[in-house]
Amino acid sequence: SCGSGGSGGASGADDGSITMGFSQVGAESGWRTANTKSVQEAAKESGITLKFSDAQQKQENQIKAIRSYIQQKVDVIAFSPVVESGWDTVLKEARDAKIPVILTDRAVDSKDTTLYKTFLGSDFVEEGRKAGKWLVESFNNSTDPVNIVELQGTTGSAPANDRKAGFAEVIGADPKFKVIASQTGDFTRAKGKEVMEAFLKSNPDIDVLYAHNDDMGLGAIEAIEGAGKVPGKDIKIITVDAVKDGMQALADGKINYIVECSPLLGPQLMDLAKKVVKGETVPARVVTEETTFTQEQAKTALPNRKY
Ligand code: AHR
Repeated sequence: SCGSGGSGGASGADDGSITMGFSQVGAESGWRTANTKSVQEAAKESGITLKFSDAQQKQENQIKAIRSYIQQKVDVIAFSPVVESGWDTVLKEARDAKIPVILTDRAVDSKDTTLYKTFLGSDFVEEGRKAGKWLVESFNNSTDPVNIVELQGTTGSAPANDRKAGFAEVIGADPKFKVIASQTGDFTRAKGKEVMEAFLKSNPDIDVLYAHNDDMGLGAIEAIEGAGKVPGKDIKIITVDAVKDGMQALADGKINYIVECSPLLGPQLMDLAKKVVKGETVPARVVTEETTFTQEQAKTALPNRKY
C-alpha cells in the first residue's frame, strides 16, 4: 500500500479512490495514439483518476512529470520510458516517497528491479524474431544476396534495441542476408520518409525494408513511390504494430508482412494499478499477446480492427 496512513491527502487510498500519474512517451505514431486512448478509457471505466502528461519523446520531460506526480502524492505512477537508461535517480525518489511505479509498454535497464513493481508490455525481441523468420522463409529458395535496409525506432528505446536484436539474431544464421543500411526514423512517418529517401539515393539495389513500426514504413512507402519503385514488389516491406493504416497498406499489397504489437494496454494496466495500490503482489512481468499478419490475413482482419 502507499502507506499514507491518516494523512488524508487529496489522492489517498482512504476513500478507496485511486489517482494515477501517467507519463506518456509522446504522440509519435498511430500506435501511441491508440495506446493513449486505451489508457484514458480504461482509467475512466475503472474509476481511476488519471493525471496524464505527454513528454514529446523527451526523457527530461518524463522525469519532470514523474517528479511532479511524486509531489502531488499520487497513489501510483505509470510510465512508458522513452529510452531504456537513466531512470534510477527518479525511480529512487518515487520509492522513497512510497509511491509504486508500473512500467508500461517499454522497459528500463535499471539493475535494481525493486525500483518498479511490474512491467506490462510486449516482448520486442520476439517481435524482431518474427520479422526475421518471415524474411528467412520468404527467401528460402534463393541463394542470391538479400539487401536489407532498416528503419530503427527512437535511438536508445527498448523497442528499437530489441526489434533490431531479435531480427539480427534470426537473419544472422544465413550470410546472404545483409543489412546494408540502418538508421533511426524516430518512429515517425515524416522521419521514415526522409531516411528512406536517403537510403534510396545511396543504395540502388534495396530488396527489403524492415521498419520498426508501421508509421515509418508508411513514410518510406511514399519515398519508394517517389523514386518510381513499387512498394511490396520491387522492395519487400516488413513492419511492426498492425495499426489500421498499416493493415490497409498490407491489404493493398504495399507492405508484405506485419508483426503485431498491441497498444491496448489500458485495462490490464488499471487492474495492476489497483493491485499494487492495495499492496497485493503482482507478476514482475506481464507480456502482451500478439500475432502476425500476411496480406491475406490483413484483408480478413481489417474490418474489425479497433485501432
Ligand atoms: O513502444 C512501442 C512503440 O512505440 C511502437 O511500436 C511504435 O509505433 C511506438 O511509437
